[in-house]
Amino acid sequence: MNLIDTHCHLTFEPLADDVPGVLERSRQAGVTAWITVGTSLADSRKAVELAGRHENLYASVGIHPHDAKDADGAAMAELKEIARGDRVMAIGETGLDFHYNFSKQPDQKRVFVAHLEMAKELALPVIVHSRNAFEETLEILDRHGDGLKGVVFHCFGGSAEQARQLLDRGYYVSFTGVVTFKNAQTAREAAAAVPMGRLMVETDCPYMSPEPVRSRKPNEPALMVHTARFLAELKGLSIDEFAAQSTQTAVRFFRLPL
Ligand code: NI
Repeated sequence: MNLIDTHCHLTFEPLADDVPGVLERSRQAGVTAWITVGTSLADSRKAVELAGRHENLYASVGIHPHDAKDADGAAMAELKEIARGDRVMAIGETGLDFHYNFSKQPDQKRVFVAHLEMAKELALPVIVHSRNAFEETLEILDRHGDGLKGVVFHCFGGSAEQARQLLDRGYYVSFTGVVTFKNAQTAREAAAAVPMGRLMVETDCPYMSPEPVRSRKPNEPALMVHTARFLAELKGLSIDEFAAQSTQTAVRFFRLPL
């Protein structure tokens, strides 16, 4: 079995202290490739460096909506330089977070659009973070998304109806361990509505360990097998079939040279 953790933060503490150990445990569990996702200029730089040091580890670069207030023109220009690295497979995470509003909404929107323009210019897919802002996120994508290579909504927690709106636009949907939580019936209905050709799996670690290891901290890529098993059962597939199909989707979406 060769699963791909399509969204992890291996630059974050405490995972960053022992990346070789984290990757080895992950391989043992059957999660054998990873995309570590940048959330700021400094973190994106770290993600690219880390990806360069480990086989099957790739990077995405972006400035999280939480930090949009810091993303001026100079920062975005520097991000674009980092994004040209050969281990960089996507732009993000970027998007809108109107739950926390750590940055003002106009700043978040401006920086999201700047990421989309960069993704088009560099012909890279986009990893979208959207929280309490589904309509506004779609509005911006509908206005600025033409010509994008691919769009994935990560850590999807919306409804089946919202998932269908993404599928109608040709977008992809990615699920974390949240889908295994007892109170996550809505996310499960969404996962059921997304065909395997558009579905990806992720940890978003170090956060949110899946059931039945939810109390384990930190979350790490090895634990993604629980989410994969859960989704396989939901889809009526064996874990091996689920792994083969979700990995094929991720390889195609991120154009991973695996
Ligand atoms: Ni994340």
